[in-house]
Amino acid sequence: MTFTVPDSDLGSLEERVQTALRTSDDSTLNLLGYGEVTLVLELESARGSFACKRLPVFPDSARFRDYEQTLWTYLRRLRQGGVRVAETRLWHQRRPGGGIVGYCVQETLPRKRLCSNLLHSESEAWASDFFARFLDQVDGAVSPTLGLDAQASNWVDLDGELLYIDVTSPLMRDASGRELLDVRLFFASLPWLVRDIVRIATARSIFDKFYSTRGVVLDFLGNLHKERLSGLIPGFLEQANARLEVPLSEQEVADYYRSDARAWALIQRLRKADRFWHRALRRPYPFLLPPDVDR
Ligand SMILES: Nc1ncnc2c1ncn2[C@@H]1O[C@H](COP(=O)(O)OP(=O)(O)OP(=O)(O)O)[C@@H](O)[C@H]1O
Ligand SMILES: [Mg+2]
Repeated sequence: MTFTVPDSDLGSLEERVQTALRTSDDSTLNLLGYGEVTLVLELESARGSFACKRLPVFPDSARFRDYEQTLWTYLRRLRQGGVRVAETRLWHQRRPGGGIVGYCVQETLPRKRLCSNLLHSESEAWASDFFARFLDQVDGAVSPTLGLDAQASNWVDLDGELLYIDVTSPLMRDASGRELLDVRLFFASLPWLVRDIVRIATARSIFDKFYSTRGVVLDFLGNLHKERLSGLIPGFLEQANARLEVPLSEQEVADYYRSDARAWALIQRLRKADRFWHRALRRPYPFLLPPDVDR
């Protein structure tokens, strides 16, 4: 499965994004999906349809190269750990005003096959088979230096195999527990006032959960509340607890979800307040924000 996307197609997508930011009107952009950090834009081209994930603007090429290295290392380590990862390209362009804009590009995969959709549309037997395969992959890959953001919306089930798609924020730590990702850059859409506070107070704990099987499973199960799939939690807990040293409980999952949802809702409110002030002062707001999520 290899592909190429013409440079000019990505260039014109970026132009549309620039126009959307300038005019505060994103109606010309085709949204495939969104998470807490990135928006995923669809690019239709003569070579097919692509999912384009716009990265924060890199201030210089050294910062971009660092990211590129980190991304390739992450993809390689995930594959070594037994995770099948969607083929991903990195496209970039120098911006006239300085800085480098980049996109992670993947082929557009069928929406129906997204696991968060399949868990709604398929049977309970399918769900439990999915979860067994999920646990194998997570347990095989995750370690104190290799993390996974394994929510149901980050996996696609293709031909009976799970494919991981959410690679834009590589989760890797060095031996001392420091993130290899340029966390400061990836938190850039937070208003400057709270950015440092949030970074210092929460960066470590926000990320900790991604580096253990138990944390990844807790995050996955907590998110089922958001996906309106709470009914699957008891069965999944039973499956997970058969392999976890310290078992999880429904209460822990519910408590976890409440605090996680509160944290992200607060961040989203702060970003929107910041955007409001940018617009009031007639400065273009430089980020595309995801729509509000019902939590
Ligand atoms: N290759 C793809 N094909 C089809 N849809 C995709 C693809 N990649 C992403 N999407 C859609 O966009 C959503 C978000 O994508 P992804 O998980 O990569 O980013 P994210 O969750 O925004 O990342 P972050 O965790 O950095 O916020 C997915 O849940 C899915 O609905
Ligand atoms: Mg995601």
